[in-house]
Amino acid sequence: MTDDPIRLTVNGTGHSIAAAADTPLLYILRNDLELNGPKYGCGLGECGACTVIVDGVAARSCVLPLSACAGRSITTLEGLGSRERPDPLQAAFVKHQAAQCGYCLNGMIMTAKALLLRNPHPSEQEIKQALRYNLCRCGTHVEILAAVMTAAGHHVARDHATGGAADATH
Ligand code: FES
Ligand code: FES
Repeated sequence: MTDDPIRLTVNGTGHSIAAAADTPLLYILRNDLELNGPKYGCGLGECGACTVIVDGVAARSCVLPLSACAGRSITTLEGLGSRERPDPLQAAFVKHQAAQCGYCLNGMIMTAKALLLRNPHPSEQEIKQALRYNLCRCGTHVEILAAVMTAAGHHVARDHATGGAADATH
């Protein structure tokens, strides 16, 4: 059964969504709006793969009911940049080759983006703190940290990430 339509804005476009009020936002984004940046990982709010930005704050869309999104502005990975014009944070992930399977990257990027929105030049410790509850089962943390550090304005040598990856995976 569906409730009254709920209006929300996604990546700058207004939508009126007719679905049960307790439907997780993640389902609406992926199934109704065909935005597949946010991923389904645990479905329990614990891994971060489904992260989006809601009114400037990182939120786990798998546990965020549609009803809580009424009138709010949501940004997904698709809203950050394009292949031709990537967000500087996305470009930094490419520069540092910060991916193995890539499943966690949506959450890593969106969580880091929310951090950079409120603090454009976070320290290494602040970045680690912000990402501490985003899980990466491939062990790509060193490259991910290097990418976010670069986007935050720190100088990070490219071979720093490569060397770290070797350390982290053996
Ligand atoms: S899928 Fe949402 S936190 Fe894991
Ligand atoms: S790159 Fe595979 S889970 Fe992070």
